[in-house]
Amino acid sequence: MRPFAKVLAVTSVAALAMTGCARANDTAGTGGSGATGGSSASGFAADATIGVALPQKTSENWVLAESLFNTQLAAAGFKADVQFANGGVSEQQNQIQAMITKGAKVIVVGAIDGSQLGTQLKAAKDAGAQVIAYDRLVKNTDAVDYYVAYDNRKVGQLQGQALLDGMAKKKPNGPYNIELFAGSPDDANAQVFFDGAMDVLKPKITDGTLVVTSKQTDFQQVVTQGWKAENAQKRMDTLLTGSYTSATLDGVLSPNDTLGRAIITSVKAAGKPVPVVTGQDSEVESVKSIMAGEQYSTINKDTRNLVKDTITMLTAMQKGQKPKVTDEKSYNNGVKVVPANLLAPVIVTKENAKEAYANDPTLSKVTG
Ligand code: BGC
Repeated sequence: MRPFAKVLAVTSVAALAMTGCARANDTAGTGGSGATGGSSASGFAADATIGVALPQKTSENWVLAESLFNTQLAAAGFKADVQFANGGVSEQQNQIQAMITKGAKVIVVGAIDGSQLGTQLKAAKDAGAQVIAYDRLVKNTDAVDYYVAYDNRKVGQLQGQALLDGMAKKKPNGPYNIELFAGSPDDANAQVFFDGAMDVLKPKITDGTLVVTSKQTDFQQVVTQGWKAENAQKRMDTLLTGSYTSATLDGVLSPNDTLGRAIITSVKAAGKPVPVVTGQDSEVESVKSIMAGEQYSTINKDTRNLVKDTITMLTAMQKGQKPKVTDEKSYNNGVKVVPANLLAPVIVTKENAKEAYANDPTLSKVTG
């Protein structure tokens, strides 16, 4: 790792830890809406153990989720077993196996690799536990009962539209030179975010309004392994030297805030003007950057609401009732369509930041 990439990585880990503490005590907001179905499986003890298998701390939202799950599961009367798998896929597999052994009645999973948990989740089902995919879908297994997440396709569409809007504000007419970034290919969300953005951007690439100077437009060409900032920064460095010695870069589709800030760091280090850069997650450093006029947009996916809706789902399951779902057709995981409770993401730019974070104790301080 080059020295400045290392500084960025270290600072972002520290920032995650700090902001995680600062924002963890927030009270829950309101959740999504939808119909309540009939009863399903029989319930389980009101003080049962609930396992929560979180991925790596690749963004602030996961750090917030850890602390919210711990406090809110306890407040709902459950025993919480919340684990991060910073060591990777096999650590997460072992953690889920250990949760089953400890008798967890539901396992809530934010998968590192959505296709690598089939064996463990089948073992969970065989032991009589139920499984909720949290934020990220688990693929190619029927051992998943429900999915709770923000509407990922909508996230991508909002990012694509924000990129167009941001560039039009700076320069009313195209063509605009852009580059595309996607998240980690092992995370099922990454493709969905990218497809959502391409719903909006592809027609504009086809009609010539947008020019991807590097010609890298396929998902596999633009992914960022492990959602790691240094990987996005390196790719941006390469794109700048390869395609932007004379051309001006007008915009960059970034799938989240951590990568967006890495892209901005790369552009600044190259001495170029900062283009329109999108994001996601409403991370403190990115909201600051938006207020300072640097990053253009982020997405508000309030973790408090996602955890709150997961607890509501768990409470229904505990009583043997079918939890509220809002979508029973979109999330085919390759084996089954997973009934989902989808929450609505909100696009945030400098214009609506104050209003968007009005009830967030940490971010409302940033927006002033
Ligand atoms: C989440 C994003 C997050 C990314 C990296 C995705 O699955 O939905 O909110 O930015 O993981 O942590």
